[in-house]
Parts: sequence; C-alpha cells; structure tokens
Amino acid sequence: MLCLGIETSCDETALALVRDGVVVADVMSSQADVHALFGGVVPELASREHYRLIGALCDEVLRRAGVTTADIDVVAVARGPGLLGSLLVGMGFAKGLALATGARLVGVNHLHAHLLAAGIAEELPYPALGLLVSGGHTHIYRMESPRHMPLLGRTLDDAAGEAFDKVAKQLGLAYPGGRTIDELGRKGRVNPTMFPRPYVDNDNLDFSFSGLKTAAGLVVQANPALSEAARAVAASADRSVGSACVDGAAPDSALCDLHDMCASFNHAVADTLRIKLERALVRENGPLPGTPPPAKRKGKKGRAAAREGQQSAMHEIFDPADGCSPSSEHGRALDCPPEADRVPVRALVAAGGVAANSYVREALTDLARRAGLPLLLPTPALCTDNGVMVAHAGWRLASLGLGHDLALEAIPRGRTIPDDFTMFRTV
Ligand code: KG4
Ligand code: ZN
Repeated sequence: MLCLGIETSCDETALALVRDGVVVADVMSSQADVHALFGGVVPELASREHYRLIGALCDEVLRRAGVTTADIDVVAVARGPGLLGSLLVGMGFAKGLALATGARLVGVNHLHAHLLAAGIAEELPYPALGLLVSGGHTHIYRMESPRHMPLLGRTLDDAAGEAFDKVAKQLGLAYPGGRTIDELGRKGRVNPTMFPRPYVDNDNLDFSFSGLKTAAGLVVQANPALSEAARAVAASADRSVGSACVDGAAPDSALCDLHDMCASFNHAVADTLRIKLERALVRENGPLPGTPPPAKRKGKKGRAAAREGQQSAMHEIFDPADGCSPSSEHGRALDCPPEADRVPVRALVAAGGVAANSYVREALTDLARRAGLPLLLPTPALCTDNGVMVAHAGWRLASLGLGHDLALEAIPRGRTIPDDFTMFRTV
C-alpha cells in the first residue's frame, strides 16, 4: 500500500510517501524565514506559502520515489488541529488528488500523527502512555491503538513549545527558538532553583507553562546583558559562538549567564514534563519499582463532582486511575474500559517538536529506566512537523480499513477532532 502524506497545518509544507510502513521519499519546505520577521507565524502568509509550494513539492516527492499519482493507494492529510487557512490548502489538494486517482482519502489527527511517528523505527506496543509536546499542545494520552487515544491531561494555557518560543523572542532570538535555547543550554550549568516547576502541586495531569514563561521573562528583563549576549549569538553565523561555561573557563560572563539561564530553563521544562508523565504512569501502572505507593487520592465523591462539569479543572478531581479524561479528543465521553479490565501500559512515548529537546529526552529516558519500560522517541527530525508522520499514520489507519469521504472537515485549533472515520475494505 502506497500512502502519500500531506502536512500543512502550520508553517511547514511537507509531503512524504510511505509504502507498507517504509518511508520511500519525503520533502519539506519550512516557512521559518518568512515568519521570522514577525516573531511568530502569520496565518495569512502561511496559507499563501502552502498554496504556492504544494504542487511543486508533490511533483518532487513523486519524482524522488519514481512513482506517479496513479500508483498512490491512499492520500492522508493532516486535518487538524492547526491554522484553518493552512489546513484547507492541504485538504483541498488531498481531496482533488483522491478524486482524480480514486485513492482512499484519510484525514489524520496531527497530534496523533506526532505520537504514531514513534512507531516508525520500531513497532509501538499498545497500550502506551504518550506525551505530546509541540508548539501548541502539551498533552498526555493513553494510546490504545492508532485510532483510539483517550486524553488524560492537557494544556491549560501556553504549551511547552510556546514557552520556549516566547522566551527566545524576549531574548531576541529567531523564531522558533526552542532548538536554539536547547543548544545554548548545553553549554551552561543547570541551577535547579532558578525556575519553578509550574503547576505540579496539584493532583492532575494538566499542564500550564505560562508561569514559567513569565518567570523566565522577569529574569531576562532584570538582566539586559542576557539579551545582549543572545543578540550576539543570533548575529553570529553559527550558534556555537562563545565557549562552554561548564568548566568555569569562559571568557564572557554575560554569555555564561545566558548559557546557564537556558540550561536552567530547559531543565525546568523537562522536569515538569517528567513529573506529570511519571504521575500518569503511576496512575496507570501503580508505583514505580522500588518506590512506596502514592498517598491516597480523592474518592468517589470527588470524581462525581468533577463529572458534573468543572471544565478546565476537571482533571483535578477526576481520578484518571479509573480511566481517562471525561471527554476524550474523539468526543466519546467516559470511553474508558472498566478499571478491572485496565491493562497496564507497556511503553512510554514522547513526540512533537519539544520532544527533540535534549533535556526532555534525557529526563524521559531516566523515567523509563526507573519504570522498567521502553521509551519510544521519534528521531529529532521526525519530532518536528513533517510529512512522514502523516503518511505513516494514514497507512496505519488505512490498514485498519479506515478512511473518509470528500465531506472530510478541517478542524482548527481549539476544536475537538471527531472520530468520524468510515469503514472501507482494507486497501
Ligand atoms: O511539533 P512542532 O514542529 O509543531 C507543532 O505542532 O506545534 O513543534 C514546534 C515547537 C516549537 O515551539 C519549537 O520551538 C519547538 O517545537 N522545538 C523545540 C526544539 N525543537 C523544536 N523546543 C525545545 N527544544 C528543541 N530542541
Ligand atoms: Zn506538530
């Protein structure tokens, strides 16, 4: 089965071909330069760029694979969440191609595609606990299958990637700044008390990174030398300007301070993600080997109260140990198996742009080691937006007989992606 994947949900136009799970070719054009001037993605410019490039990129990916449109069995397209105008470009192209060739159309949840990318290099064991950390989302899922991923915890305000990008912007670094902060931090020393671990003193699995972003912003404001050092880094052709501070031998103390601040920020984000993922894991599988059982949680009364609809705080009282969140991304309320049937998760998965972060990878590797579970991480290149993850997810879904008709809707950020697949014969 040859599956073409199309990704246009934000500022990357990316297409890839996957044949029976094996990546055959992929192409991508990043619009980072177009948006860098504005310090963030400008939706109107993003759609125009997708529209300008998508045809030529499609020709190129077919040429690289040595196939024609007639060879395509499945056209998979990221249907959301994302910028609506950008999604519509990919969706219109995908529908036209499916209509013209008779290929199966499959609408792919962009967030699920990120997580499923962890199953490209090695088979993903289900159920797994998935941490999705991207520019717009910080979510924890119980991954039951390529289709069913009940949401356990979610972003309440800024996502981890947004926090990276906003701090980078305050420092005067180019958008998106996550990777630069990661690289700068590698030369510094972590001060574990410089930044808080935001929103962890509670009993839920949700995330809030706006407090950490503000704390970092205050440090930047109070130390103008940090921004000056960052501007010097941004102006240099390669980001390796300045020597590492780790040996205490750096000549420029402002640069060292910048490195140390970035190291501490990376560490705070990674530690926060680790704390919540560890909490989710304990709720799914029980205490980690060699650790005492967790303190008693709230009982039935608390859960009932939560179900009565305390919107964003619903996870605070709801006890994920007895299932998943009250509303999953598929809109299937309380679709969890009964507690007695609940199978322990067999692996940890992390994906999305921030999963490329070296501190995050280290922190989660340590958690997985302590838990005695495998950790599946896409390669850093497959963590950020790409066409391969969409083609791969489309192939997985089509292999289950799933697809969509031409009424497939694009879903902008903030709306639940419906589980509205149609059952077809297996391709
Ligand atoms: O998954 P992604 O490519 O796009 C979305 O779906 O949002 O994630 C983009 C985010 C940006 O915020 C970017 O700064 C961040 O991922 N990012 C990183 C790293 N590489 C990309 N953040 C921290 N460390 C990195 N190495
Ligand atoms: Zn993404």
